[in-house]
Amino acid sequence: MSKRERGLCFIKYCSLTSWLLYCCVFINLVNGYTVKNCTVRGALKYAENINVLCNKRSLHFVPGNIPDKATHLDVSDNLIQKIKKENFSQLSNLKNLSAQHNRIREVEDGAFSSLVALQELNLACNKLTDILGGMFQNLGNLTVLHLNENLITNINFSAFSPLISLKKVNLTRNHLNTISKVQPLFLLPQLQEVHVGINGFTSFQSSEVSNISLRLKVLDLSKNPLKVFSITADIFPLLDNLILAFITENMTWDVQDKRYLKSVQHLNVSGIQLPLEKITDLLQTFNSSLASLRLHSLGDVKVRALIRNVCLISSLRFLGLQRNNITSISKDEMQFCTQLTELDLSHNRLSSVPAVVRSLPGLHLLDLTFNNITNISRVDFANLTQLRTLQIFGNKISLIEDFAFKDLKALATLMIGSNRLPNGYFKKDLPKLESLDLSNNKLDSLCRGDFESLKSLKNLSLPDNKISSIEAGAFNGLTNLTFLNLQSNKLSQSSIKESVFSSLPNLKTLLLNNNHISYDNQEALAQPPFQNLGKLKTLNIFSQINTGMRHLPLNLFMGLRSLEELQAENLNINSLHPDTFTYTPSLLELDLNRNNFNSLTGTEFLPLRVLKTLHLSKLGLQSLDFLINANLSKLRLLHVSKNRISVINETLIQSLPTLIYIDLQANSLSCDCSNAWFVNWTIRSNETQVESGYELTCNYPDKLKGHKLLDLDVGSCNVDVGFFCFISTTTLVSLTLLSSFLFHFLKWQVIYAYYLLLAFLHDNKQQRKLNDLQYDAFISYNVHDELWVMRELLPQLEDEQGWKLCLHHRDFEPGKPIMDNIVDGIYNSRKTICVISRHYLESEWCSREIQVASFRLFDEKKDVLILVFLENIPSHQLSPYYRMKRLIQKKTYLSWPKPGEDTRVFWQKLRVALETKDTSEE
Ligand SMILES: *[C@@H]1O[C@H](CO)[C@@H](O)[C@H](O)[C@H]1NC(C)=O
Ligand SMILES: *[C@@H]1O[C@H](CO)[C@@H](O)[C@H](O)[C@H]1NC(C)=O
Ligand SMILES: *[C@@H]1O[C@H](CO)[C@@H](O)[C@H](O)[C@H]1NC(C)=O
Ligand SMILES: *[C@@H]1O[C@H](CO)[C@@H](O)[C@H](O)[C@H]1NC(C)=O
Ligand SMILES: *[C@@H]1O[C@H](CO)[C@@H](O)[C@H](O)[C@H]1NC(C)=O
Ligand SMILES: *[C@@H]1O[C@H](CO)[C@@H](O)[C@H](O)[C@H]1NC(C)=O
Ligand SMILES: *[C@@H]1O[C@H](CO)[C@@H](O)[C@H](O)[C@H]1NC(C)=O
Repeated sequence: MSKRERGLCFIKYCSLTSWLLYCCVFINLVNGYTVKNCTVRGALKYAENINVLCNKRSLHFVPGNIPDKATHLDVSDNLIQKIKKENFSQLSNLKNLSAQHNRIREVEDGAFSSLVALQELNLACNKLTDILGGMFQNLGNLTVLHLNENLITNINFSAFSPLISLKKVNLTRNHLNTISKVQPLFLLPQLQEVHVGINGFTSFQSSEVSNISLRLKVLDLSKNPLKVFSITADIFPLLDNLILAFITENMTWDVQDKRYLKSVQHLNVSGIQLPLEKITDLLQTFNSSLASLRLHSLGDVKVRALIRNVCLISSLRFLGLQRNNITSISKDEMQFCTQLTELDLSHNRLSSVPAVVRSLPGLHLLDLTFNNITNISRVDFANLTQLRTLQIFGNKISLIEDFAFKDLKALATLMIGSNRLPNGYFKKDLPKLESLDLSNNKLDSLCRGDFESLKSLKNLSLPDNKISSIEAGAFNGLTNLTFLNLQSNKLSQSSIKESVFSSLPNLKTLLLNNNHISYDNQEALAQPPFQNLGKLKTLNIFSQINTGMRHLPLNLFMGLRSLEELQAENLNINSLHPDTFTYTPSLLELDLNRNNFNSLTGTEFLPLRVLKTLHLSKLGLQSLDFLINANLSKLRLLHVSKNRISVINETLIQSLPTLIYIDLQANSLSCDCSNAWFVNWTIRSNETQVESGYELTCNYPDKLKGHKLLDLDVGSCNVDVGFFCFISTTTLVSLTLLSSFLFHFLKWQVIYAYYLLLAFLHDNKQQRKLNDLQYDAFISYNVHDELWVMRELLPQLEDEQGWKLCLHHRDFEPGKPIMDNIVDGIYNSRKTICVISRHYLESEWCSREIQVASFRLFDEKKDVLILVFLENIPSHQLSPYYRMKRLIQKKTYLSWPKPGEDTRVFWQKLRVALETKDTSEE
């Protein structure tokens, strides 16, 4: 057998192994973890809910290889036009499928039929026109179906019949025009909610729907051009909520017996375009059961005329009067409304709290948001001793008179944000208040005792004010406070003294982000501000305005022994003192994104023994090797996108034994053998998900820039005996099975290949010992270094020393495939000399030449490679060339002397290297 055939055989063998490797990979993908085009949330390892997110990715098709354990799949906001039969064929665990906001026109028959566990299906906002008979086959567990905002004109009579568990369906905004098209829906045994607003229905008649009693609870017919609404039989004995908002026609209301709608408690006739008498007539039907009535968007005149009658409904508790342009409302108009407990007057044009409110002492909830109220007088809320919730944000209130809240003895929630309030006001009254929202007002300082009377307060929200100073004792009395929001103010380091937070023993959440806090150095503070917050769980300090925080004093977090979450991104910090986190041993999540660390050693994180989530994105990191020292033995999620990381090595990943997720997007990954292990691991690991693994791109070498990292052929990077053995043993079994199969069909080719293989093995053992090689050395070099090869190397080695070299431009057989030439060249030469320069590393190092030579190195256990460095390449620049680094650690290599230096020693060494014969490595 010729050398050429042997070379070919070698290549065939390689492609067979890589084909088998590909198969293993492929089989793994089905259960795998890095799903093309998608993000997986939830860990296979911990058998949690598996949420596969493939939304907003401009996909034209449903991605393949969704893990069959997936319980939630989101393919919404894409460009999918068709759901194919095979798309979901193995997803028998799926509970929730979101496919809204696509361009789906067609769903193949039976496309959902494998989704036996499906509970919620969302196909809203697509282009479906017809619902075919087989569409919902087997969806016996489906409870919620969204088909709103499509172009549906037809629904097959039997399409809905498999949906025996369906409770809720939304068909709002479609092109349905007769109730008969949706009639089969109403007969489903579990159906409770039907939303069919914004279609073209012109009549709704109970006789078209059913002749037997149904279990329907919610019926939404809003925005249809209904001319007739007719109930002539008791088919809705359980109907609770009827929505007839914005009916656009002069509808005939025909309910023969009031008892047919006796269960309706909630009625929405907002914006209904009926004359006043007809509305009054309609409301008569409900005069015994109604508890809540929405009369939004009817206009000032109509609504005020209606109120008196409406309040005669003795069961009425909630009255909604939103968006009616009401400017005032008199006591007289509401004199019969004393039974009300909830009144919604939001989005009107009231300039003060209407006096009528005072005569409704039974109110629990009063909503006055988005009006034009400018002040609150001391009588406005008189008598409202039962009021629990007062919503009055979005007005123009700049003054609250003293004692205005005196009677609000039961008030628990006060939302008075987005007004023009200055400081003060909460020193007295409101002993039951639990939640106070003062966001977006004009507060500029907090003084001692400002909240003193609020003994029950749990949540205090003060964001978006102009608070720059907080007096010691400002939060005195707030012993029950658990949540304090001070974000987006003008606080500086001097406003958050220790004495400020010392009276908040139960505080769990403190938000201080977007202020002006900064420190000049890392030195210990005399009075660390959070010392007394031993129960604090969440602290936000991110994004300090102007200069950023700049430094974290080493004892800033002193006292925070329960802290679980620290958001410290975007602070312009460039170093961390090793003691910074010694005070926060309970930390579970740490966010340090967008800072400027010069160097991290990893030891900063040593105190964080239970850390589960670490955010280190946008930090300019070049390597994650420091994490090896951090001992993050509980870390589950690692976010390191938008850095300059080039290599992820095995040692690092192994130092994170509980990792289930890593986000490495937008880094500078090297597409060469240095990442071979990472590539294999990304594809194969079923424990750790690499975010958008298939989208990761190479930044290096230049010619692969922008290529996908996982497209890198790493099969030839592994010269490890261990890896080879692994491949051989795993493939041997498959090979045996496969070969009998192949033999049957490809008998002659197999026999031929068998003889080739025999010859190859024989050749290996015997023939090479004969030492009948054609060349002494094969020269592998980059075209940029050709001059040096021709002018220096060739004359010296061939003419002076008398070696016979194989150079491709000279010795390659014309017309023969380049690969064959390379294999022949290498196998016909005793040695391979690699002329290494930066150019060579960038383009030649992962080339076929070097792969073949490496294989030979392994295959024959001979010292065949000679490395000649043409330029001085510092060791750290070699680090991406993992395999190269290993070679130069094991072997001697030669360096071409600097210009002007004597070259004799170099040539002498090269001669010795070429003379060395058959020296076995290791
Ligand atoms: C992950 O893969 C390993 C080996 O391939 C296997 O033993 C293990 O059962 C797999 N785990 C899961 C959760 O699939
Ligand atoms: C359907 O729901 C029932 C009741 O919740 C449950 O027992 C059954 O396992 C579900 N079927 C599937 C295939 O999940
Ligand atoms: C039904 O669909 C409409 C239109 O998309 C949407 O506005 C509404 O919130 C949905 N209602 C429910 C109950 O899902
Ligand atoms: C109800 O009965 C009437 C009279 O028998 C019939 O015309 C109508 O089609 C029936 N409606 C339904 C939905 O079955
Ligand atoms: C009542 O109808 C109006 C107008 O369609 C809508 O904004 C509101 O959400 C509805 N309320 C309920 C409880 O359905
Ligand atoms: C409070 O209610 C009582 C009894 O309804 C009434 O006499 C009194 O005028 C009310 N107070 C105010 C300030 O309206
Ligand atoms: C990974 O990198 C670290 C630090 O550079 C090094 O100590 C370790 O040996 C490397 N591991 C492997 C498997 O190359």
